[in-house]
Amino acid sequence: MLADVFISLLPFLLSTGGAAFAKAVPAAFRRPVSDAVDHVDPIIGNGGVIPSHTGGMIPSTAPPFAMTRWVAQTRQNYVSVPPYILTDTSIHGFQGTHQPAIWMGESGQVVVIPGAGDIKSNFEDRGMDFNKDTEVRTASYYSVELDALEGGTILAEQSATSRVGHLRFTFQHTSTPYVVVEATRAAVVGHTDTSNTTLHIGSIRIDPHTREVCGSNPERQDSIIGPLSTPARGFSGYFCARFAQPFATWGVTTNGTIHDGVLRRDDRLLSGFATFAPSTRVVDVRIGVSFISIEQARRNIDREAPDGETLEVTAQKTRAAWAEKLDRIRVEGATEKQKTIFYTAFFYSLQYPYETSEEGRYYSGFDDQVHEGESYNGYSIWDTFRAEWAWLILFAPERMPGMITSMLNDFKEGGWLPKWKNVIETNIMVGTHADSQISEAVVKGVRGFDLELAWQAVVKDATVPPVNDSTTTYGDRQEDVDYEVRSGLSTVYAEKGWVASDIHSEAGSCTLDYSYDDYAISLFADALNKTEDAHFYRERGLGNPFKIFNDETGFMEARNANGSFAGPDAGWTEGDKWIYTFDVVQNIPELALRRGGNASFVQFLDEHFDGGHNQHTNEPSHHIPYLYAMVDAAPKTQERVRSIAVTDYDDTPTGLLGNEDCGQMSAWYLFSALGFYPVDPASGNYVIGSPFFDKATVRLPGVARPLVISSPGAPSQIYVENSVINGGKISNSVITHTQLIRGGELRFEMSSVPV
Ligand SMILES: *[C@@H]1O[C@H](CO)[C@@H](O)[C@H](O)[C@H]1NC(C)=O
Ligand SMILES: *[C@@H]1O[C@H](CO)[C@@H](O)[C@H](O)[C@H]1NC(C)=O
Ligand SMILES: *[C@@H]1O[C@H](CO)[C@@H](O)[C@H](O)[C@H]1NC(C)=O
Ligand SMILES: *[C@@H]1O[C@H](CO)[C@@H](O)[C@H](O)[C@H]1NC(C)=O
Ligand SMILES: *[C@@H]1O[C@H](CO)[C@@H](O)[C@H](O)[C@H]1NC(C)=O
Ligand SMILES: *[C@@H]1O[C@H](CO)[C@@H](O)[C@H](O)[C@H]1NC(C)=O
Repeated sequence: MLADVFISLLPFLLSTGGAAFAKAVPAAFRRPVSDAVDHVDPIIGNGGVIPSHTGGMIPSTAPPFAMTRWVAQTRQNYVSVPPYILTDTSIHGFQGTHQPAIWMGESGQVVVIPGAGDIKSNFEDRGMDFNKDTEVRTASYYSVELDALEGGTILAEQSATSRVGHLRFTFQHTSTPYVVVEATRAAVVGHTDTSNTTLHIGSIRIDPHTREVCGSNPERQDSIIGPLSTPARGFSGYFCARFAQPFATWGVTTNGTIHDGVLRRDDRLLSGFATFAPSTRVVDVRIGVSFISIEQARRNIDREAPDGETLEVTAQKTRAAWAEKLDRIRVEGATEKQKTIFYTAFFYSLQYPYETSEEGRYYSGFDDQVHEGESYNGYSIWDTFRAEWAWLILFAPERMPGMITSMLNDFKEGGWLPKWKNVIETNIMVGTHADSQISEAVVKGVRGFDLELAWQAVVKDATVPPVNDSTTTYGDRQEDVDYEVRSGLSTVYAEKGWVASDIHSEAGSCTLDYSYDDYAISLFADALNKTEDAHFYRERGLGNPFKIFNDETGFMEARNANGSFAGPDAGWTEGDKWIYTFDVVQNIPELALRRGGNASFVQFLDEHFDGGHNQHTNEPSHHIPYLYAMVDAAPKTQERVRSIAVTDYDDTPTGLLGNEDCGQMSAWYLFSALGFYPVDPASGNYVIGSPFFDKATVRLPGVARPLVISSPGAPSQIYVENSVINGGKISNSVITHTQLIRGGELRFEMSSVPV
């Protein structure tokens, strides 16, 4: 059935797509040459009625894992609304944003707004119309032509390094040019009532001699959730905008009221501004951003985009950083559309977590101190532990020790590993999947972090319950609670193996997620030769999921403290009994047995898909199509995977059917396109699917020879007849991380009929 659907879509897939960009990218901004980077279209995932219906992505410019991303601002962002929405018709400035995903809040942003004539600094007053056909959107350079409010036009061009935004404004047929730098705005609190705003006090410091407008902004929209014990009270985003042109006049505005000549002010609704001689036609500004101080923001400019550096040079450095990554995979036999989907996914997969250390120091929101060392932010771990982390281990291994050390720094400073860290912990989603991520890294041979401390940290997750465990439900986004970690650990899980649904929120999902984390910890214990621990966690990890398997219905079902089942619909987070029944990647043989054996399990999977129960738009479904291959039904995996790649991904603004979630949606596509997927990520095993292209040449960082994935005919033949890695036949549809990182040849013989 599904194969037919796929075949009927083939003509559509094989037709060559249009150019990747609406407007040609100027030659200076296409250097260095990179076909891969040319295929990044950062508007994918910004469509839909509201962007939260697609990826929630924005057309921002920044290098991989950048501290700050820069984007044209079309509206005020807050939880569930990004700063740029394609259907909006005016641009209100250029925002250095730290909003890491659609369901998270902004923090410490700065907005730079060009204008001419009368100074307009309030959001409602400063929006300029623009023609979408004038937009150029790439990974490293963005430009747009704005209609100045007094008439005339402003060409705005943007690039960025990790900690510096670089903007250039060219004024045509306007009077006196000016640039406003916004420190504070009316910040939306939470995500339901947009009229509920907070006015934060920020600062502006102007120095006409050094041509700088600097300041700070303490806004942090997620301050209403997260542990009370670590409130990040001292958090601020600091900035320093340094102009290449001399100021004519300067001052600050408060709620739109102009205060000419003022050099310093601390206030609400505060901006600084500079005007330039009327003959000035080009204004170039570099905005250093810091979480430490204004002085550090200045130093970030000196280090990353020093005086005299042109926008062209900044953009070329950032493009080179992307090319270094994206050129590592060369695909053959992909259509233009598929290349755009693939390389944009690759681009999205290397943005988070984002670096926050500056010259070897970082601000920690957990203890409000500046520390020496490395730190990262934007950990969406319930999403990313599935495939995104595995992708990072392969394509950003140089970042792994720092990303894990950052998690361990959180543990030292806040007491726990992160779950969803956005400046501090936010308690969003369930499970302590940092356990899985760290264990996976250990299994895959990642070193360069404190192994003993990491062991202590995962053991704490697995054995120490949260504060007031028996009296707190720890619901999603519950305010005024402590670290959620493994809620329900002390009430029932530690003793009986399930989380009690009558005491805790999302109990069924918690049970399954804690089990997976326990299993992952057992693999970590193996690596440390801790035999007894390995045994303990393996028992919990492999056995506990089945404590909530209801033999009468054949589905997982949350249980109450007294052991009674809580009903088929209780206790799930972002999923239902269908999806969660398959959430036992560490013990599929047992699940298949419980469902009556392999053949009957295949039937169950068919019912799941054909009944419309799979929700690829959300993470708990991501591994499900690969389960067929684990019970001798690989052709069905091949059909489902190829079908999802067509229905849930394309090269248009609505081309990501689920929220991108810090790279996980994209990582699914990338792995699937290459022909394998980390169903049980901590194990180091990958399950074979169906490669999309004739050939992919993968140069993994640190691996001497390339991995050549050859699958001639794959674009039109979706079935795998035979697969061989470096001469060895692949049995049971499984290849290992160790095999992949030797490079060499992974060869698939494709077929047009199921084999
Ligand atoms: C605004 O939101 C905060 C945080 O959720 C809440 O404490 C406060 O009561 C809200 N104010 C109004 C007027 O709704
Ligand atoms: C800001 O100005 C607007 C009118 O321009 C006014 O409605 C609003 O109350 C002012 N806000 C504050 C906090 O003064
Ligand atoms: C724990 O419960 C006690 C007693 O009800 C309460 O005073 C305290 O605030 C709670 N702590 C947290 C972090 O919820
Ligand atoms: C674990 O034991 C093996 C075999 O005895 C040994 O090679 C390895 O170094 C040990 N690993 C650790 C972390 O102690
Ligand atoms: C078990 O707990 C559930 C939920 O609290 C309750 O409805 C049920 O009556 C209890 N059953 C027994 C046998 O106590
Ligand atoms: C089910 O499939 C798996 C994977 O091929 C295989 O190892 C196992 O033996 C099968 N079970 C039975 C009962 O045939």
